[in-house]
Amino acid sequence: MSIRFFNVGFRYARGLPWEKVALKNINLEIRRNEMLGIIGPTGSGKTTLLQLMNGIEDPSEGQVLIDEGDPARLRGREITRLRQKVGLVFQFPEDQLFANSVYDDIAFGPRNLGLTGSELEDRVRWAMEIMDLNFSELYQRRPQTLSGGQKRRVAIAGVLALKPDYLVLDEPAAGLDPEGRTALLALVKRLRKELGMGVVMVSHRIQDIISTCDRVVVLVAGEIVKSGSPREILQAGEELSEIGFRLPPMNKVLQELKRFFPHLDVGLIGEAAIASEIDRALRNQ
Ligand SMILES: Nc1ncnc2c1ncn2[C@@H]1O[C@H](COP(=O)(O)OP(=O)(O)O)[C@@H](O)[C@H]1O
Ligand SMILES: [Mg+2]
Repeated sequence: MSIRFFNVGFRYARGLPWEKVALKNINLEIRRNEMLGIIGPTGSGKTTLLQLMNGIEDPSEGQVLIDEGDPARLRGREITRLRQKVGLVFQFPEDQLFANSVYDDIAFGPRNLGLTGSELEDRVRWAMEIMDLNFSELYQRRPQTLSGGQKRRVAIAGVLALKPDYLVLDEPAAGLDPEGRTALLALVKRLRKELGMGVVMVSHRIQDIISTCDRVVVLVAGEIVKSGSPREILQAGEELSEIGFRLPPMNKVLQELKRFFPHLDVGLIGEAAIASEIDRALRNQ
């Protein structure tokens, strides 16, 4: 089961003088039980790519299949069912919280699916628990009175409550303080591990992606210029710096040290692994 892109292109304002190519020749597969990260600078097409994943937009060229179904060819109830497989969390999703209580906000989607009574409550509890939100403390609260990180988690819980097979998040950690950012990324990681969902996350911060994802795709000007494991992406760090990406500071240091220690492994993740690699290089000189 997977979401697959075959030679996909996307243009905004098709046929108009201000037509804009946002994506070109995208070939990509997102499997269930995998955590895919997409990095790219602003305007590289990340958000457009996500909107093609759940059929909000149809490709201008090529084809997108969600578990073999083509959202561009389906109509009515069938397309709704297909889209439900893919939960899309927009950037700054807390802007769309609208209900008077956390409970009603998260219950909105499942209610529309026909859930009522204890089944509905169980679903809300389940989604809140996954997002590390204490049910009894928070279910009656007005979303507007929560912290930024809590609001973001309530908004994500609202999408999770639909039990999608894939969850697609646009810049989920943007605008949060460092603690909120770390906590949220840890939760996102859990979704794949514990629920076996396919998770796609977009960020312009390499650090967030390499610390969270199994596989990384680099998008530049609407095209995939590189893909691989976080380790492989870091090993191509110099190339990425040249096209304007900012490496995590510790990896930048490794990159610089490599000039003096050519055998240094620059594909490491996290302070501890990097420190011991530098230690090893110094001892072996
Ligand atoms: N509604 C739109 N109409 C026209 N052009 C758009 C629209 N949305 C995005 N674009 C353009 O498409 C390109 C890709 O945008 P987007 O997918 O939002 O990139 P990212 O999320 O990586 O910042 C950009 O050049 C952007 O200006
Ligand atoms: Mg975007």
